[in-house]
Amino acid sequence: MKVEEITKEMQEDLQSVSNLKALNELRIKYLGKKGMITELNSEIKNVPNEEKKAFGQRVNEVRTLFQTTYDEIKTRLEEEELNQKLASEAIDISLPSTKVSMGAPNILEKLIEEVEEVFMSMGYDVVDGPEIEEDKYNFEMLNIPKGHPARDAQDTFYLEGEEILLRSQTSPVQVRTMLKGKGKVPVRVICPGKTYRRDDDDATHSHQFMQIEGLLVDKDISLSDLKGTIDVIVKKLFGADTKTRFRPSYYQFTEPSVEVDISCFNCKGKGCNVCKHTGWLTVCGAGVVHPDVLRMSGYDPEVWSGFAFGFGAERLAMLKYDIDDLRVFYNTDLREVKNFDRGELENND
Ligand code: DAH
Repeated sequence: MKVEEITKEMQEDLQSVSNLKALNELRIKYLGKKGMITELNSEIKNVPNEEKKAFGQRVNEVRTLFQTTYDEIKTRLEEEELNQKLASEAIDISLPSTKVSMGAPNILEKLIEEVEEVFMSMGYDVVDGPEIEEDKYNFEMLNIPKGHPARDAQDTFYLEGEEILLRSQTSPVQVRTMLKGKGKVPVRVICPGKTYRRDDDDATHSHQFMQIEGLLVDKDISLSDLKGTIDVIVKKLFGADTKTRFRPSYYQFTEPSVEVDISCFNCKGKGCNVCKHTGWLTVCGAGVVHPDVLRMSGYDPEVWSGFAFGFGAERLAMLKYDIDDLRVFYNTDLREVKNFDRGELENND
């Protein structure tokens, strides 16, 4: 094919091209490996010597012509395609938006945060411990040796033989904290965390529940320090007129041990359904740390003493927020979660 014919065809092709894809095909048709302009190069050998130069120049001119026209068309087509895209994707900002339904903070979490804040203001650190625990920390170093009947009360999930378990209480964090403290005082920690027992789930039991453990070790610490501390937290959570009562109890790791009752915030002690007509509600177990526990964890009981306590977090939240079934804390039903937040979320649906 003659150079002129190719040039003509090329110009016609370029004039009628209407999109980038077709334009690219033209580039292949003319400048590709086997393109019509490219092929002209191989024809040069058939051209008589004296015409070679002129032929070569013409081929170059055609190539340049193709390239410049191609570039112009490409820029124009790209612009057109962009404009089309922008027009078709225009966003109507006057349309109403899709409503997003919001959740609410879990009420148990909120209660724990409130307790943490009160204790932090009294100089306590919030610490953590493992949920997969060693028997040694969960029982033995808390004065509950293997085979001791006290273990039966805490129907434990064992994971590996007799040594590894899901902690049945947060009390092992007491031991861990003291071991880590290496005899340093004061020890002042609270540890909110998950605990596990082989209980059937019902309104007041759950195989997984939460406790808030507390431990203080220092010089000359007595039961009255414990009383004062519990009094602060209880008044903060349930109101300034809440009274506390300490009943003798028994735990392996405290001596003496107590159970703490608060005056019923609902009937102010007169007796009602909430307190089962006793006027009192039990909120935690506590006591003065047993000398053996101190000793096993590296604190000389002749020098140091301490108190410890353990709140049931769900129990506190149930009392505070008037909830009669602890399973709702672990429910993901938004209608119930929102209910907890009383009002704050009303605008969202
Ligand atoms: N760990 C006990 C339980 O799960 C609760 C408890 C009682 C914790 C007395 C304490 C304590 O720290 O001093 O029943």
